[in-house]
Parts: sequence; structure tokens; C-alpha cells
Amino acid sequence: MPQDVQIDTDGRLKHFISIQALPRKLIEEILALAESYIDFPTRNIKKVPLLRGKTVVNLFFEPSTRTRTTFEIAAKRLSADVINLQSDSMSTVKGETILDTVKTLQAMHTDTFIVRHKNSGAADLIARHVPPHVHIINGGDGRYSHPTQALLDMLTIRQHRHSFENLTVAIVGDILHSRVARSEITALNVLGAREVRVVAPKTLIPTGVEKLGVKIYTDMAKGLKDVDVVVMLRLQMERMEGQLIPSPREYYQCYGLTEEKLKNAKPDAMVMHPGPINRGLEIASSVADGQRSVILSQVSNGIAVRMAVIAKIMGGYSKQPKPAS
Ligand code: CP
Repeated sequence: MPQDVQIDTDGRLKHFISIQALPRKLIEEILALAESYIDFPTRNIKKVPLLRGKTVVNLFFEPSTRTRTTFEIAAKRLSADVINLQSDSMSTVKGETILDTVKTLQAMHTDTFIVRHKNSGAADLIARHVPPHVHIINGGDGRYSHPTQALLDMLTIRQHRHSFENLTVAIVGDILHSRVARSEITALNVLGAREVRVVAPKTLIPTGVEKLGVKIYTDMAKGLKDVDVVVMLRLQMERMEGQLIPSPREYYQCYGLTEEKLKNAKPDAMVMHPGPINRGLEIASSVADGQRSVILSQVSNGIAVRMAVIAKIMGGYSKQPKPAS
């Protein structure tokens, strides 16, 4: 990616596109703010007036359950108005470019766009074309980045382990197509995890991934040996070109997380998955629903983390557009 657009000249977070290039201090500030939002559902008043009168647009060009819904809840808890747009109901299907769609929505005085797109770099591209008072948050782009997923996973790990320094984390599965894996590896290394491993068949390991600071394993038992956290990834069949796994049955036999394979990890190892999960392909139901699984906590923490990211960007940003002359 070209020069980072995320931090403005005054040092404020203006857009949230990727974990790369963000200082550890800022990541920790967002996590601390998210922690302060976790108890919101138990409060009598479940909203703060921080973003009254502001408008957040969910601009989703790919399907989503977790990210889109938790961004909507997060923005509403901060009292923003929220508009949800899905690709099949947008004028891009009639040939309008994504930049023209964003420009059109800006003309309706919207403030922040949450963007999900199948192309890597889509959120970054839009961020480079919006005026100074408009913010872009990446809701997942291609294989590149899913930064709020990485942060909600870090928050979930911190709830259970408090510190990253002694942790060994294995990320297992379709590393090749995974924006979550890339964002997660960066976040874990920035926060000081002792060791980050990727575990996958050779066909699903991207060239040069070791440069991100990971150890590579193709054997599941060895890759899970004594790890503190296991992050399972979905097989992204829709992005696969050619035969990258022998068969779903064989993949599950070698890389599906079963109770038997989980015995290689530490006895109290956490099991994570960003979702959506494919039972019997990446993970056994008994593990996904078992005591060590924190998969649904990850979903809940998505609201707190997305509130923190939106608040950090929009709450600390008072620049308004100059009136048209
Ligand atoms: N983890 C994740 O991005 O899930 P959705 O595709 O449901 O948003």
C-alpha cells in the first residue's frame, strides 16, 4: 500500500484501514476504550450521546452477518444515525463506480463509511478520495485486512489471558485467502506475543508469510503443540482458484479441529474462530460449542471494539467541511 492515510497531520486517527502502520500505543488505547464499553448491554441506559446528529453508512459489497450488524449496533449505541447499504441494492450494479457511490452519499451529509469489499485496497482507495471531514473504516477488504476483527480477537484474548507476552498462538487453515490472518499476525506481534504460528497445507500458505513474523507448520499436531490460543479459519472456497485441498473430508482429517487434535495444545487453550464457521470442515461441533470455545464472546466483543474505533475517529474529530462559497 502507498503512504498511510490513517493518521492525520495532527496525529489523530482519521481512517481505520489496517493494523499495519498503527503504533502499539494507539492499538492499546482502542482496546482500553473498548474495555470500557463491554458492560454497555447491562447498563440501564445503553446509549451515549457522543455522535448525535452524525451519520454512519454501512457500505457492504460482500455478505456479512457479524461485522455489519455489530457496526450498526455500535454506531447506534453512540447515538449516530445508521444507513445500511448492500451491493445488490446499490447503483453500482447499474455501472456507477464505488467512488461515485461514495460521493453521492457524501452529498447527503453522511460522515463515516464502513466499507466491505472483495478487492484488497478498496477501503484505502476510498479513503484517498474523500474530503477531510469524512472517515473510512475497513470492514474487510479482499485478502488484505480486517482490522476490527483483529482488535476484537485481541480484546477477547486479553479478557482471558491479560498479557500477550507469554502467549503462543496458532492460526490454522486457509491462511492464503485470509484477511483476518494478516491483520491478526500483525496485531499479535505488535502487542508482543511470544510466538505466532500458521498451520496449513502448503497450498494454503502464502509465499513470504514468514516475513510477517510467523513460524510455519504443515503438521497440525506439531503446530498445536503447547499453544495457548488456537485461531481456526474458514476455508474460503469462493476465493479458491483450482484444487487447493484434496477433498473436504481429507482436509477435515488433517486440519479440522477435533477434541483429539486439541489435546496437543495446552490444557486450558482458548479456541477462536472469526466466523462464519463450517462445522465438520474446519472444526468439530463438540469443539466449537465446547468449554474452551470463545467464538460467541468474539462476536459480543465486536460491538465494544467497533464502538471504540468509531468513537476514537468520530468523537475526536471536530473538523467540519467549509461552507461552499
Ligand atoms: N468475521 C466476519 O467478518 O464475519 P462476517 O462475514 O459475518 O462479517
